[in-house]
Amino acid sequence: MRQPHVLALLFSLLFLVVIPVTAQAQAAGEGIYKAKCVLCHGADGRSSTTLGKQLQAANLRSKEVQKKSDAELHKVVHDGNGNMPPFGDQLTDDEINHVIKYIRAMGKTKAAKK
Ligand code: HEC
Repeated sequence: MRQPHVLALLFSLLFLVVIPVTAQAQAAGEGIYKAKCVLCHGADGRSSTTLGKQLQAANLRSKEVQKKSDAELHKVVHDGNGNMPPFGDQLTDDEINHVIKYIRAMGKTKAAKK
């Protein structure tokens, strides 16, 4: 009678430890994006949120943004530009690179084409 109990406990521990670590590694860019960028750029990157419209935030899926180099995008995220706030104090270079990868992935999805 005691054994199933122990197994259940072990499984719970396994999930508690393994899943967050894996998910974190896979979704680093997505996590940062959702925490810091969604407010203006929206979950889909089109910046059609109330604040995004007010500030005229760029559509991150657009050709205009996607055609820029990683270095250019990195600079904007780091230093800011117009109404786009600088994130150099909040994010490391690595984190900015992760989030740029996520923006690239958004640009490549089918929904990106209007
Ligand atoms: C307070 C609102 C706001 C937040 C939060 C915000 N942005 Fe922006 N973002 C803007 C606005 C506004 C622009 C358009 C700026 C301009 O070109 O005048 C912009 C533009 C951009 C561009 C396009 C730059 C270009 O040169 O075309 C990128 C890339 C970008 N943001 C990425 C991000 C990322 C990544 C985050 C989160 C780490 C983020 N933004 C958070 C408002 C925001």
